[in-house]
Formats: sequence, C-alpha cells, structure tokens
Amino acid sequence: KVTDELDAAGIAWSLYSEIKPNPTIKNVQDGVEAYQAAGADSIVAIGGGSSMDTAKAIGIIVNNPEFADVRSLEGVAPTKNHAVFTIAVPTTAGTAAEVTINYVITDPEKVRKFVCVDTNDAPEVAVVDPDMMASMPAGLTASTGMDALTHAIEGYTTKGAWELSDMFHFEAIKLISENLRDSVAEAKSGQPGSGREGMALGQYVAGMGFSNVGLGIDHAMAHTLSAHYDTPHGVACAMLLPIAMEFNKPVCAERLAEVAVAMGVDTAGMSADEAADAAIAAVKQLSADVNIPHVCEAM
Ligand SMILES: NC(=O)c1ccc[n+]([C@@H]2O[C@H](COP(=O)([O-])OP(=O)(O)OC[C@H]3O[C@@H](n4cnc5c(N)ncnc54)[C@H](O)[C@@H]3O)[C@@H](O)[C@H]2O)c1
Ligand SMILES: [Zn+2]
Repeated sequence: KVTDELDAAGIAWSLYSEIKPNPTIKNVQDGVEAYQAAGADSIVAIGGGSSMDTAKAIGIIVNNPEFADVRSLEGVAPTKNHAVFTIAVPTTAGTAAEVTINYVITDPEKVRKFVCVDTNDAPEVAVVDPDMMASMPAGLTASTGMDALTHAIEGYTTKGAWELSDMFHFEAIKLISENLRDSVAEAKSGQPGSGREGMALGQYVAGMGFSNVGLGIDHAMAHTLSAHYDTPHGVACAMLLPIAMEFNKPVCAERLAEVAVAMGVDTAGMSADEAADAAIAAVKQLSADVNIPHVCEAM
C-alpha cells in the first residue's frame, strides 16, 4: 500500500525489514547502514512497535552518530539533534510508538531490554489508520490491545499521573474496554469494523498519556520476561496486568476503583477496595474473553 503511493508520487524508496519482534541492537545498527547505503533523507516506519522503535533508534543515530553503539542511548541520553524526518505508520493497535518519546531495544548479550526516552525521537507525522491494522490475526489483535490497556491503566495509577494524563488514560481505558472484544471478533471473521477503529484510537490516546508520565511494574517485569524468553510484548504485559494491579492495590485502591468505572463496572455501593477488586476482575475477564494465555501456559 505504502510503496504504491510512493511510486505514484515518484519518490524513490529502499526497504529495510530485517527487524525481529523485540528488536535488537544489531537490527538498529544494520538499519543505520541500510539508511546510509540507500542515501536516504527520511524514514517511513511501517509496522508494530518493533519496527517503529527500530526506526526511531536509526533516526536518532543517523543524526547523532556518537551514539552508534546503541547501548549509550539507554535512559535519557543527551542527544543534541532531532532524529531524521520520520512518518510513523502503525500496523498494530498497541504500543502507540508513533506518538511516544520512547523506544525499547533488546540487548541479547546482556539478556535485557532497555528503554530509551528522548523527545528527539518523536516522529514528525503519525498516520493512525485502522486499515493498516486490518491484517492482524486475532491473537495479535488481542495481545497488542491488552498492551494498550496496560499502558492506560499503568499511566492512570503511576505516581506521575495528573489531571491532563488522567483525561487521556481514562478515555483510553474506556475505548479499549468497549472495543477490544469486537476488534478480536472482527479479526476472526476477516471483517474489520468499528472495533478495529476504536482500538486504533484507544491505543493512540493511551500513548498521548503514558508518554508524558511513564509506566509501572508491569512493564518492568514484561521487559525482563521478553529479554529472557522472547515473549511477545503484548502477551507479557497482558499476563502480568492483574498481578501488577493486585500488587499495587494497597497504595492505589481509589485509582483502581476509577479504572473499574472506566471499564464499565457499576461500582455504586462498593468500597474503594471492592471496586479495585472489580477492576482486577474486569481485566481478567477481558483477557479471558480474548484468549490471553495464563502465565504458566505461556512459559
Ligand atoms: N515505543 C513505545 O512507546 C513502546 C510501547 C510499548 C511497547 N514497545 C515495544 O514495541 C514492541 C512490540 O510491538 P508490537 O506489540 O506492536 O508488535 P511487533 O512490532 O513486535 O510485531 C509483532 C509481530 O506482528 C507482526 N505484525 C505487525 N503488524 C501486523 C499486521 N498488521 N498484520 C499481521 N502481522 C503483523 C510483526 O511482523 C511481528 O511478527 C516491543 O519491543 C515493545 O517493547 C514500545
Ligand atoms: Zn507496552
């Protein structure tokens, strides 16, 4: 779809697609070489979080070559220049990497994933089009959608949360809870519809939130799981979500009670603790309805 448009516009392009899920340092370094070999001047990042994150790292290194080892980009690296001009086109409804200031790279030697946070990596343009996500099979729709829900719930309960991020996260929880089941059903039937559209929007709105306040222990553990077992990111996040919520409940029951409301639970008459439990139950039910495996099964 995209290359047809480029051809029609007479824009020369070259493809780099040697990117594995949970992308590695080598995927980034090979991408920098490919970018330079092609004499390119911009990037169109098409794919899930793995492709978009790799594109972000490539774009940063091309304009900040002192970080060519990739590892030195971990955390908040002092890059001086914005990444090369990038148009991000997500094909999964999950990571929101098209709008976040983060990217995540795997270091197979050290068996860890590391997160890079850099406002210089934000793509100039994000094309969030549910048609580009229409080819996702049901399992991928479910797991990436649960990743988006994890972003919204962790963003809502993190210490950095405030009124502005709450607006994004509350709405994202609502959109994802209302649309994920339908989106998975549409993937099974091969007839994309309003569920797919709602998920494209919900994951994007979640990204507008969490990119500003960060995530939590679910993502910390999910990255470790993926580094050791190459677990798909969405599956790791989804399996751990009720466990992380349970762990956090003693310090944020009231926030979790609001998550229950966003998920459509009638919490009238419940204490904060009871409503928090209802939020955890709603997450477990959603996971079960879209066939997310339990931790033990997946391991
Ligand atoms: N930058 C961020 O803010 C951010 C946020 C969350 C996660 N991440 C990272 O993103 C990565 C996960 O990304 P993801 O969950 O989008 O999956 P992914 O990009 O790893 O893709 C998973 C698989 O799905 C395939 N795929 C992608 N789109 C498809 C489509 N439309 N139809 C059929 N197959 C398709 C891919 O080729 C791949 O095999 C992880 O490395 C994670 O750490 C980044
Ligand atoms: Zn995630």
